[in-house]
Amino acid sequence: LDGETAALALVIEYDGTPIGDVALWLTDKEHRQGEIGWVLNPAHGGQGFASEAVRAVLALGFDHYHLHRITAQMDARNSASAALANRVGLRLEAHHVQDWFSKGEWT
Ligand SMILES: CC(C)(COP(=O)(O)OP(=O)(O)OC[C@H]1O[C@@H](n2cnc3c(N)ncnc32)[C@H](O)[C@@H]1OP(=O)(O)O)[C@@H](O)C(=O)NCCC(=O)NCCS
Repeated sequence: LDGETAALALVIEYDGTPIGDVALWLTDKEHRQGEIGWVLNPAHGGQGFASEAVRAVLALGFDHYHLHRITAQMDARNSASAALANRVGLRLEAHHVQDWFSKGEWT
């Protein structure tokens, strides 16, 4: 995270096969703020793998890299992602209206 890319990724493996990842990148190097994102192969959903991986990356960000703040952004309709954020202890701070153009529409 403190290297040139200012980013890291944790690859989630199951039985030796990658099934997802969690990325963390700095949005403000000087003031130690970061953003986190995640994706999991749906074939391996519903078993807590994403929660475990996101918790590990949050701990790394706060405990090892001493980040001040880590945020996550998602489409408000993405209830699975919101549930994951909630599970790992992130809190909802804002619901922005039409702030992201995705797949041909404002979300
Ligand atoms: C967001 C996403 C990663 C969530 O995946 P998920 O499988 O729901 O999350 P987890 O791996 O943490 O699994 C949690 C579920 O496993 C269950 N579970 C079973 N065993 C568990 C265990 N040992 N520990 C924790 N949870 C367990 C939980 O109860 C929960 O079930 P529920 O959904 O019925 O409440 C997935 O939906 C995804 O990849 N979506 C597409 C990508 C995406 O939208 N990314 C965000 C873009 S902003």
